[in-house]
Amino acid sequence: MLAAYAARADPADPLSALNVGDIDPPEVPADWVQVNVRAAALNHHDIWSLRGVGLAADRLPMILGCDAAGVTDDGREVIIHAVINDPDFVGSDATYDPARSLLSERYPGTLAVAVRVPRANAIPKPPELSFAEAACLPTAWLTAYRMLFTQSGAKPGDTVLIQGAGGGVATALITLGRHAGLRVWVTSRDEARGARAVALGAHQAFPSGTRLPERVDAVMETVGAATWSHSINALRPGGTLVICGATSGDNPAKAELTKIFFKPLRVIGSTMGTRAELISLTQMLITTGVRPVIDRTLPLTDAAEGFAAMINGDVFGKIVVEP
Ligand SMILES: NC(=O)c1ccc[n+]([C@@H]2O[C@H](COP(=O)([O-])OP(=O)(O)OC[C@H]3O[C@@H](n4cnc5c(N)ncnc54)[C@H](OP(=O)(O)O)[C@@H]3O)[C@@H](O)[C@H]2O)c1
Repeated sequence: MLAAYAARADPADPLSALNVGDIDPPEVPADWVQVNVRAAALNHHDIWSLRGVGLAADRLPMILGCDAAGVTDDGREVIIHAVINDPDFVGSDATYDPARSLLSERYPGTLAVAVRVPRANAIPKPPELSFAEAACLPTAWLTAYRMLFTQSGAKPGDTVLIQGAGGGVATALITLGRHAGLRVWVTSRDEARGARAVALGAHQAFPSGTRLPERVDAVMETVGAATWSHSINALRPGGTLVICGATSGDNPAKAELTKIFFKPLRVIGSTMGTRAELISLTQMLITTGVRPVIDRTLPLTDAAEGFAAMINGDVFGKIVVEP
């Protein structure tokens, strides 16, 4: 089966660990359903996997990918929910399952001609969404939806700061935040990306690290070490920082512990989202008419080109691949 997979791990040169070619997919539970992939999307998660972060050597080779939309063998058009729970997990929130994994961590991922998932992880794809648009939702957009609407406590009229304008999560946060009545501020290292963020719906873009005109109610953090202090400083007393990633590293020069307790702030970790949140997200896209920004669409065989652009920070929105 044609797939993009991690053949090994290389912390310094992740692209050298990527193979695109034929691979025998490992076994998955017999009752899982096959989804024939029409479109998949790349995430920074795949690059972490190629670096060996979160993917143990004894699980290699591993087909990459968390995001896809496709058609089941019985003809249903579906979107993949990439959070795979322990079948015995009894909590109401899939992201709190201590034994959860994401596709491509324990079971083969979506950057392939086909992927197999538990039946409940194949949710209906509304006809209003193209396969490419639907493929952008399961990771970046679901994560953004949960950060804003489940975790941040932000209400219409509040100001939300989004660090790092161009990423898949950031562009989703800008779009969803704008359509939810929030005042959306973004930062970017790049003036042109900041301008694109404003064209997308942000009310204002600022150079990374600049002092803002006023303090904000919530910060959405995906950049990590490079923006951590700015995020803490930007919040009003009682504000909320929601963090889902650390692209620039997870060890900031200053942890800012005093400011966190003295202001006092809420710092909330967030990962992916539930099946119900993914369904609500698709409904929000239908009712608002908004769609994911797609930076480019590539054949699966050119996945390396897409990953290179992400590593260089040369992206605005999601990169879609088609098998
Ligand atoms: N927990 C979860 O469930 C979950 C889900 C999705 C993503 N994530 C994580 O969230 C992070 C974002 O992922 P993504 O795919 O949306 O985007 P990404 O490709 O990792 O980049 C996001 C943005 O970060 C900014 N950035 C990168 N390096 C920077 C640096 N050194 N200094 C300042 N800004 C920097 C860039 O913005 P500018 O150039 O515009 O400044 C870039 O556009 C990743 O670490 C990913 O692993 C986690």
